[in-house]
Amino acid sequence: MIPLNEVSIYTLLRMAFVWQLLSFAVYLVGLLAIATFFFDNFKSVVLIVKSILEPYFQPQLPQTLVEKFGKWAVITGSTDGIGREYAKELAKQGINVVLISRTKEKLIAVTEEIENEFKVKTKWIVADFSKGREVYTHIERELSGIPVGILVNNVGKMYDYPDELSNIPEDTIWDLININVAAVTIMSRMLIPELKKQKRGAIVNISSGSELQPIPYMAVYAATKRYVRCFSQAIERELAEHNITVQCVTPLFLVTKMNQYSDTVMKGGFLIPDVKSFTRSAVFTLGKSAETTGYWTHGLQKWILMVCRQFRMGYQAGGETVSAPSEGPPAARHRVSCPPQESTSLPQSVPLPQNSHPAIMEKLDAIQNAVANVASQMTAVVNRLDSVERQLSLANQFQNSIERTQGTSRSNDSFPAAFQRSVTVSIVDMEIEELRPLIPMSTMEQVQAVEELL
Ligand SMILES: NC(=O)c1ccc[n+]([C@@H]2O[C@H](COP(=O)([O-])OP(=O)(O)OC[C@H]3O[C@@H](n4cnc5c(N)ncnc54)[C@H](OP(=O)(O)O)[C@@H]3O)[C@@H](O)[C@H]2O)c1
Repeated sequence: MIPLNEVSIYTLLRMAFVWQLLSFAVYLVGLLAIATFFFDNFKSVVLIVKSILEPYFQPQLPQTLVEKFGKWAVITGSTDGIGREYAKELAKQGINVVLISRTKEKLIAVTEEIENEFKVKTKWIVADFSKGREVYTHIERELSGIPVGILVNNVGKMYDYPDELSNIPEDTIWDLININVAAVTIMSRMLIPELKKQKRGAIVNISSGSELQPIPYMAVYAATKRYVRCFSQAIERELAEHNITVQCVTPLFLVTKMNQYSDTVMKGGFLIPDVKSFTRSAVFTLGKSAETTGYWTHGLQKWILMVCRQFRMGYQAGGETVSAPSEGPPAARHRVSCPPQESTSLPQSVPLPQNSHPAIMEKLDAIQNAVANVASQMTAVVNRLDSVERQLSLANQFQNSIERTQGTSRSNDSFPAAFQRSVTVSIVDMEIEELRPLIPMSTMEQVQAVEELL
């Protein structure tokens, strides 16, 4: 121990200066991280607040959906679920609607219901998008002369049960491509000239939370939904100069007939809203944000999934900086550079300056311990994620073996299991409660912890 009066004032000043520089750098990184987080995750919230306040400050701007986009909307896949509710929500706001689905009886019933309830004009078109190119001439003919202002590309198909690509019937794969990819693309292409003519309009593309990550055993569905997102982002830029809004909506689980295979999903709840509440909220974001999950609890789930994925990807990068792609989803753009897994626990003794004051030595020790503590917590989280991955892979093998034993008859029960494997389990089974205090611990908080020690 060196008494205080033996430490030269010069040494103390030098150290104080170095620590100030260091803490400034850490603050800067923390601020940057927080700013990036807000920009990526709350961009739409900021825009929504802006558009709510806009009428008070700029009342001359168009306010209603009719004023903003026009009098008519076309909704694909609109006799059930999300599509039906979109049609009703838009009609509620005074917009005439054109419904497109396969079943004539259902189309008649829904259009009558809408006309009676909301006193708007309606039209229905029978079309089966799984048929591919042949349906579009008919749709185009039916839509000619209608000043369409909003197109909701909602129609979508999911697997009957999840399976390896080679086991999926070729017809099903063509259906998925025709319905999930081609319909969005060709319907947009068909109506863009009309929207351009009117110098305003909106295209709403319904993607899915499945696009957030590749999903084994649902490879095609997830990939088609990623297509919808990439496509939306690209045409959003193309059409901006024509005053045409493009919005990509990525819902997670909802109570619709698409999820009938699962009693749990159909029960609904805090994380799985009913389709009416979801759609009311999603339509509210139209014209306010270009990308949204549509519903706040879905936004929360998406954020948690993204944080978990980022965290793991950072570690898998093995300490090398992952080059940030200039385009692509925000998640990919902001991968972080992390130290390799084996070096997450810092060396216990970092060489300290000789002849330092004991009080300083003590603080340095405490800081070193705090940093080591954070690093070991991170290692624990990473190990936990690895063990979850192992469990999921075991669950996969187990399910495959059950399916093999059961021969070809695959019950719908396999579906929730597989989807859980890919998405829900990654929230529930990772014991998010256990991880929660660790993951969102921002750099700022860590800095504050270290500051307190100082
Ligand atoms: N439900 C969810 O949890 C969820 C989550 C994320 C994303 N999504 C996406 O949201 C969209 C709507 O899903 P949803 O749950 O509302 O579906 P849904 O309840 O199953 O309704 C599907 C609608 O599409 C029509 N349709 C189905 N196949 C068609 C085809 N080949 N040609 C024309 N119309 C067809 C159906 O009517 P007909 O049978 O009369 O044709 C029905 O009106 C889909 O793109 C889906 O991928 C859903």
